[in-house]
Amino acid sequence: MNKIFIFAVAVLGVVLGACNVKAQSQTTASHANGKILIAYYSYSGNTKEVAEAIHEKVGGDLFEIKTEGTYPEEYRQMTRQAQKEIREGYRPKLLTQVENMAQYDVVFVGSPNWWGTITPQVSSFLESYDLSGKKVIPFITHGGGGAQNTITDMSAQCKGCSVSEDGWVGYGSRTLGISGWLEDLGFDK
Ligand SMILES: Cc1cc2nc3c(=O)[nH]c(=O)nc-3n(C[C@H](O)[C@H](O)[C@H](O)COP(=O)(O)O)c2cc1C
Repeated sequence: MNKIFIFAVAVLGVVLGACNVKAQSQTTASHANGKILIAYYSYSGNTKEVAEAIHEKVGGDLFEIKTEGTYPEEYRQMTRQAQKEIREGYRPKLLTQVENMAQYDVVFVGSPNWWGTITPQVSSFLESYDLSGKKVIPFITHGGGGAQNTITDMSAQCKGCSVSEDGWVGYGSRTLGISGWLEDLGFDK
């Protein structure tokens, strides 16, 4: 009877010890990554879903980039207007603002792939804030074309910041694999 009791206490000790180690390593991980902002633009909802999945996993603050301007309801007209805006380097005025950008160490930036690049709304965001010294992690959603020039263009438009090449590139609202991607980057809530 005594032996069983001692064995049970020993097992409990090992289990609790393991939990403690896990809790400590989680705290260390989020500490090491610093304060996180997840900023995104989404026209039809896919990038928003990915942003929410990242937020669910790493915490931090979620921020939707909203700008002036509207698009026609008809899809082809809408895509033509977007193409023209991109060609002309249009930068719509931001309608939402990040409070105290200086507090963030890591900024996830989400954009749909539009005509092979990031959207004008995301370009406005990147050019309106001082992101120098921050770690910028892109997440891109697309309709079959993959990343194309999105990540390299994000890098070029984000002055002084370090844009990770290991961004998320997913078809539509796909989120399967997000956890593994974030863990590979060293994130754990
Ligand atoms: C104006 C426009 C241009 C697009 N251009 C591309 C493209 O060049 N390559 C691609 O793979 N998908 C393209 N797509 C598809 C979107 O990238 C895809 O549907 C994305 O997930 C939409 O994100 P959202 O729902 O957050 O707006 C385009 C969509 C729109 C509306």
